[in-house]
Amino acid sequence: MTDSGGPARGRVWQLMGSATGAPSWDELAPWWRETFTHGADLEYEQQILPLALSHLAGRRRILDLGTGEGQLARRLVESDSRRVVVGLDSSAAQLANARAEGGGPSWVRAAGERLPFADGSFDAVVCCLVIEHAADADAVLGEVARVLDGGGLFLLLINHPIVQGPGSGLVDDTILGERYWRIGPYLQETRNLEQVDSGVQVAFAHRPLSRYINPLADSGLFLARMEEPEPPAEFLAGSLDTDFERSMPRLCLLRFENR
Ligand SMILES: C[S@@+](CC[C@H](N)C(=O)[O-])C[C@H]1O[C@@H](n2cnc3c(N)ncnc32)[C@H](O)[C@@H]1O
Repeated sequence: MTDSGGPARGRVWQLMGSATGAPSWDELAPWWRETFTHGADLEYEQQILPLALSHLAGRRRILDLGTGEGQLARRLVESDSRRVVVGLDSSAAQLANARAEGGGPSWVRAAGERLPFADGSFDAVVCCLVIEHAADADAVLGEVARVLDGGGLFLLLINHPIVQGPGSGLVDDTILGERYWRIGPYLQETRNLEQVDSGVQVAFAHRPLSRYINPLADSGLFLARMEEPEPPAEFLAGSLDTDFERSMPRLCLLRFENR
């Protein structure tokens, strides 16, 4: 998954949650900041942030739903100072890190399931690697549709659920000399705790793509574009079969437009 895997970073964290639950995003905030922001993660730098910025070009009132420590929200303002950008997150610790960085966006603590904004407040909403962690995806999608204006755009970035779902991944069978991609159950909606780093577990919800596309269509938001980029070249370093691994996407970007 995109907020897992990738090159090992060496540090051991102690964020394994308990038998009954995963660490909260308040607990995960230091790990997130150190591992995925300020240029630490090449997938963000080379792929996720440039793709999101290019799709949001020309949009002026943008909500970054699940902003984390605000790396995308800040870059949206840096790339166009006329923008009004709101970074919203349910985690106080993530937002404290965002506020400490400053940088132009305004920061709001709220759940994506109940957005504290009037109907039609934004011309774009972006949700970057967030919906997999949301308790109620339908409520989040309904709120996104409500706060977008008539020509609104919704950019949804997710771990690719077809090939990156639970139980999926590269199998390197050194005994049989086989190397293949195992695909876990796709149609089944599941919630899983995944070990994503040394000493770090994160809760993920797996849902098939139709679970996002159809409710949004029912709200008038239609899929206009889909991107499935190859993994960044550095992820393939050391691969025994670069062509094969290059053909397995990590990220899925879905662009919805209000019609
Ligand atoms: C993997 S981080 C991604 C952060 C940021 N979008 C980025 O790409 O750098 C997921 C974030 O989503 C937030 N989040 C999860 N569920 C949420 C919800 N229902 N409402 C608002 N924020 C949520 C978490 O607190 C966390 O900061």
